[in-house]
Amino acid sequence: MAINISDRFLEANTARQFGLKTLIRLAPVRRKLNPALRAVLPKRARASEAPCTVTDAFDAAADHYQKHRWAFVENIFEDDFHAALARNYPPRRFLQPVAGLTKSYDRVSITDRNRDTFTPFPELLALSDYLSAPAFEARVSRIGGQDGFRTSGHLHLTRSWPGTFMIPHQDSALESDGIAAHINAIFFVAGSGGDNSGGLTLARDNELRSVIFAPRNLTNTCLIYDIREPFFHGFNPIAAGKYRHAVIMNWQLKRETT
Ligand SMILES: [Fe+2]
Repeated sequence: MAINISDRFLEANTARQFGLKTLIRLAPVRRKLNPALRAVLPKRARASEAPCTVTDAFDAAADHYQKHRWAFVENIFEDDFHAALARNYPPRRFLQPVAGLTKSYDRVSITDRNRDTFTPFPELLALSDYLSAPAFEARVSRIGGQDGFRTSGHLHLTRSWPGTFMIPHQDSALESDGIAAHINAIFFVAGSGGDNSGGLTLARDNELRSVIFAPRNLTNTCLIYDIREPFFHGFNPIAAGKYRHAVIMNWQLKRETT
């Protein structure tokens, strides 16, 4: 849950967002319409044979991560897999409609309950399985510098378009005594890149004035950060003509209890 947000940032970035506010009012209608649209519209392009592979560029980020508690990785997936994942990215009718201003884009988590809905996107399910597997948990543990990171196994999927944004915030997990570390990885599958394209920005403040890092390459890249660190994360409204498709996974290290 988002905490410590700036009401001033929210007001400044939503005062003239009439289209977004209309879309939010239409969320119940879109929610009802999406299953019907999924049933009648084409589902996907041809499936790929490319296996899901996270490259060793991920493991090479360990030193930077352990020093700064964040790291940015380029060429995160093998090229063939990345191309198929980007080509077969689910359309908006497969996601939950935007329903609030603070995270104002369509998104959905893939769980055991809705996994069948994503059968038309085998690359996405392969990625979900790959990132949930014990072998990848071990790689995350090496990045984190401690054994025992475990994932919820729920891949979170987002689609953003011009005007949508994420209010800079910290996560409530920051205040959880039971968690020693919590690594979030946001995989940028495809995006326009450059300024105001939805690159998740890490900052020291909740209005993105004191930026620590702002990703500019949103094609086959990944930002890893520890939400237990006192960073804020968010992004400004996406500029006209730009977009971002990104998936998120997280791994927690529980504090040992005696
Ligand atoms: Fe967050």
